[in-house]
Amino acid sequence: MNRIFSGVQPTGNLHLGNYLGAVRNWVRLQDQFQCLFCLVDLHAITVWQPPEALRAHTREVAAAMLAAGVDAKKHILFVQSQNPNHAELAWLFNCVARIGWLNRMTQFKEKAGKNRENASVGLYAYPNLMSADILVYKATHVPVGEDQKQHLELARDTAQKFNSDYGQDVFPLPEPMILGAGTRVMSLRDGTKKMSKSDESDYSRINMTDDAETIDLKLRKAKTDPLPLPETPDGLEGRPEAANLLGIWAALANGTRDEAVAQFAGRQFSAFKKELSELAVATLGPINAEMKRYLADPAQIDAILSEGARRARALSAPVLAEVQDIVGFLKAV
Ligand code: TYM
Repeated sequence: MNRIFSGVQPTGNLHLGNYLGAVRNWVRLQDQFQCLFCLVDLHAITVWQPPEALRAHTREVAAAMLAAGVDAKKHILFVQSQNPNHAELAWLFNCVARIGWLNRMTQFKEKAGKNRENASVGLYAYPNLMSADILVYKATHVPVGEDQKQHLELARDTAQKFNSDYGQDVFPLPEPMILGAGTRVMSLRDGTKKMSKSDESDYSRINMTDDAETIDLKLRKAKTDPLPLPETPDGLEGRPEAANLLGIWAALANGTRDEAVAQFAGRQFSAFKKELSELAVATLGPINAEMKRYLADPAQIDAILSEGARRARALSAPVLAEVQDIVGFLKAV
């Protein structure tokens, strides 16, 4: 059976990159797959999170997902820490994945920066927990943005090594699904940097909580270059900001970047930004309003998440029990 697992860190609010690269695709895949969508708070604390901020962000991101169309009745929306089976399988994977594999992870290098010795052990082992998230449900497909590709390759390697070490076909090799024109949305201040929750400038990203005026202002202020938009896709060479803004337009319009180039060929940025802003507001406005409605009732969000966790635990418990038996752990009597 095809099953989707995907996750997002509640380290801040969702931004346009999370939405176009991941959440919007999740919503579209709900018709074809059984889905689990997870707020990965255990991953979040691999870097310091003030406890009250973590609690607030977890509810906010849940509200954003529900508002964007995640169907928590048909599918499962839950918080990672409410299913301890993830952390248990992650420990087993700490003993399967090799240090050499983790040493190659570019995201650890980026996040740990120069001060590697002082990064948390959790940040280093982060990809093993991510493998466990997916494989504790034997999920087969993982819709994510481009930046998660390397982690998914590691999850496949770990699944394969476990299967071959124990001589059993336990885990499927999960397939990444990197879909659409928004798989790598870049910063509005610097077209060579990924749009990210951790960028100190709020003008670098559009948040799912931004109102129409803020979206418009951020897009008007977005970095550009002095030339008009190119006539052909080749003309985007060396113009990362133009490429990014046209890519965002394409993703919002459900088209391709080449189509966006054709539509705005030779136009000035100012005119294009106006249309981009209208499209962004039209897409995000209704989600924003719905999100506010959910956030007005935190108890409802908590109840949805608790129910999701209950169902997630029920799905993963037999997988964890199977794995523990294969590894040779005694069963409690
Ligand atoms: P996170 O929280 O950084 O991002 C959540 C999702 O959003 C995508 N994304 C982007 N897509 C396009 N452009 C961007 N600028 C951009 N920024 C983020 C990410 O690719 C991701 O799909 N490690 C994961 C969370 C995770 C997970 C998992 C994902 C934990 N366990 C298991 C899949 C399966 C992360 O930090 O995502």
